Amino acid sequence: MSHKDKKVLIVTGTTSGMGRVIALDAAAAGYAVVATGRDPERMAQLRKDAADHGVELDVRFLEITDHPAVYTLVADVAKTYGHIDAVVSQAGGIYALGTAEQITMDGYRYVMERNFFGNLAVIKAVLPHLRASKGRLIVTTSANGLVGAPYNDAYASSKFALEGAVESLAAAVARYGVKTTIIEPGPVATDVMAPRRFERLLPNEHIENSPYPEPWDLLSRIIANTGAVQPSEEVGQQVLHLLTQDNPPLRFQTAPWASDFVAPKMSADLDGRKVLAANEAYIALGD
Ligand SMILES: NC(=O)c1ccc[n+]([C@@H]2O[C@H](COP(=O)([O-])OP(=O)(O)OC[C@H]3O[C@@H](n4cnc5c(N)ncnc54)[C@H](OP(=O)(O)O)[C@@H]3O)[C@@H](O)[C@H]2O)c1
Repeated sequence: MSHKDKKVLIVTGTTSGMGRVIALDAAAAGYAVVATGRDPERMAQLRKDAADHGVELDVRFLEITDHPAVYTLVADVAKTYGHIDAVVSQAGGIYALGTAEQITMDGYRYVMERNFFGNLAVIKAVLPHLRASKGRLIVTTSANGLVGAPYNDAYASSKFALEGAVESLAAAVARYGVKTTIIEPGPVATDVMAPRRFERLLPNEHIENSPYPEPWDLLSRIIANTGAVQPSEEVGQQVLHLLTQDNPPLRFQTAPWASDFVAPKMSADLDGRKVLAANEAYIALGD
């Protein structure tokens, strides 16, 4: 089968973690996968991993905070393959930890630029192509996109923002055939808590006689003690299923822990089908 006959999937943030697994699994399942990364060594390793798995990956550079580059990449992919059928927008992670008192305003902005505006740029750039193909949009937020958590203030803010953008969008683009799913993981074994991530954490405000625990240590202990860290491989298979499901949900928590965590607020509509229907009824008021 030539590239042009395959469904074309773009996955962002694929040089580690869930993105890497999603890209490799989708390629193995027969998608033409454009896998984006930004570290040349990790991109080379990903190409090697793909070859070792006997699959083809089109690995391309993308820094999602460079919005013109996002548009250029998407246009180039459309030119190469003629169509874009699905997108998994999931690059990002943790960059600032602490309470609002601790995180600097620049820290909040930094996190918003990546987890919110960066992913939003990807979504904006791919939508014309997904409308044309009646394709799939999958966006990863987090259980913390629905329920805030102590010391995850900036991260939760950015993921709430992304949830709001995608939830608002879903019913509008559903009218043109685009199926949207928001992925909401709990703890997953990825690089998100790897030492290199700690090295990138932004410095916090100095607080005289601070009563707060060190946020990275606290988060590490909390995650270890959940006893619920999910393997990335499981998420890869879940995403593959969502990509092919006829009637995918608006929301998908990847593990029972995540569903339980958001349930106090979301139990009436864990998979978002009710809110999607409500928004479809809302748009219909304008018909
Ligand atoms: N792991 C969890 O427990 C968990 C839970 C809930 C939600 N999530 C979400 O799941 C998604 C994937 O994270 P992960 O857990 O798989 O962590 P990960 O292994 O750290 O993967 C994140 C990927 O995003 C890339 N990235 C970060 N900032 C970027 C930028 N500005 N431009 C382009 N790429 C960028 C990273 O590239 P570099 O290698 O170059 O940094 C990396 O490849 C994230 O949105 C995260 O918030 C994770």
